[in-house]
Amino acid sequence: MKADILLGLQWGDEGKGKIVDVLTPKYDVIARFQGGPNAGHTLEFNGIKHVLHTIPSGIFHDTTVNVIGNGVVIDPVILKREIDALRKLGVDVKKRLLVSRRAHLILPTHCLLDKASEAAKGKEKIGSTLKGIGPTYMDKTGRNGLRVGDIDLPDFREKYNKLVAKHRDLLRFLNADTDPAEFEAAWFEGIETLRELTRIDSEHFVNDMLRNGKTVLAEGAQGSMLDIDFGTYPFVTSSNTMAAGACTGLGIAPSRIGNVIGIFKAYCTRVGSGPFPTELLDETGERMREEGREFGSTTGRPRRCGWLDLPALRYAITINGVTELMMMKADVLSIFDTIRVCTHYRVNGQLTDRLPYDINGVTIEPVYTDLKGWNCDLTGLTQPEDMPHELIEYIGFVERETGVPVHVVSVGPDRVQTLMRSAVWA
Ligand code: GDP
Ligand code: IMO
Ligand code: MG
Repeated sequence: MKADILLGLQWGDEGKGKIVDVLTPKYDVIARFQGGPNAGHTLEFNGIKHVLHTIPSGIFHDTTVNVIGNGVVIDPVILKREIDALRKLGVDVKKRLLVSRRAHLILPTHCLLDKASEAAKGKEKIGSTLKGIGPTYMDKTGRNGLRVGDIDLPDFREKYNKLVAKHRDLLRFLNADTDPAEFEAAWFEGIETLRELTRIDSEHFVNDMLRNGKTVLAEGAQGSMLDIDFGTYPFVTSSNTMAAGACTGLGIAPSRIGNVIGIFKAYCTRVGSGPFPTELLDETGERMREEGREFGSTTGRPRRCGWLDLPALRYAITINGVTELMMMKADVLSIFDTIRVCTHYRVNGQLTDRLPYDINGVTIEPVYTDLKGWNCDLTGLTQPEDMPHELIEYIGFVERETGVPVHVVSVGPDRVQTLMRSAVWA
């Protein structure tokens, strides 16, 4: 078998959690491959709304194994909190969750460093979720990091102390709070919870599963425009959020990748700083935020809103090799008579349909095509045949502009508010 990948094509929060939960019955394994608790993946069903940060979004199905892959960074405190919350809902996490020994650990001092680094940047701050993501990946690539497998070593505490001492030097240099003592007890409690989980060599596990004909879905976090290499650098996260990240973050060879499912909102949002060509700073943007309840799942920050950006979407489709699209939150656009879609940019007077190298310093003027809105409630729909023709035209426009079919349309946050346009998913 080949592993499928599902990932966000915009600036994160496309609705990955919801869709992974919906698709889970089709898969034997759901595996996270990058990012960490900067992610907030929301699921809704039977009146339950749940937000996951580190745990894959297949955890609510008892027939599926969930894997936290080597490319993920784990904060044991947040992981424990997630596990406790799931246990309260009756989910047997211990049975359904496996954790890679190679995944790196987020220390309390990584979070202090994240805060100090953002404070030092002042007005140029990234708008990080402050979960310690950047500093942890820096220690990983700097070859200083602590890994899940290290918790079994007799000198784990010494290794921890050594890394903390290094961090304290850095924190002093940044004139920041250097003392992680108040967070340490909770952190080591989290380590104990981690000890209770099954820790595995996930690269062997995932490849064995594929070899044995099992189906695997790799669940992305963040979105392509936040990718460390291809996002709007430096306003990005610190991992490869793109399809290639699933190869390095799980140990799957490129030849073992099957479908790449790209998900996008019918409009755009971004949380944190950085360029956003189609951002609406007016009342229209405000209405979109209210209607879409666009407030961060991890930090509660208001998300910036704007129209669909096709040059950015096409770019994301290209770098990921997307084979099919899923369009989320179509219901949110029901309030607009006219829906705008950015097809090109004007950069320094020149018309282009390509994302420029650096969109930070330059003024990008979006060029829009206006489409007629559908102006009706979509949230009760269950069959694609019942979609209003204006929505079908909107989808057709996106398909023509991107060259990729839209197989699923989401019309509300609940599992059941999902329209399957392809026999594959029906
Ligand atoms: P993720 O990070 O990609 O998993 O997305 P988030 O969970 O951070 O943000 C998506 C938000 O939109 C969540 O609050 C979801 O419950 C909600 N959502 C998902 N799909 C839809 C949809 O089709 N319509 C509406 N109105 N909300 C949706
Ligand atoms: P999910 O998986 C939206 C953004 C932050 C900030 C930048 C860097 O829920 O889609 P970091 O904490 O990684 O140092 O932040 O990336 N960001 C996200 N935005 N959704 C996410 O995850 C995000 N994870 C990070 O807001 O701009
Ligand atoms: Mg999110």
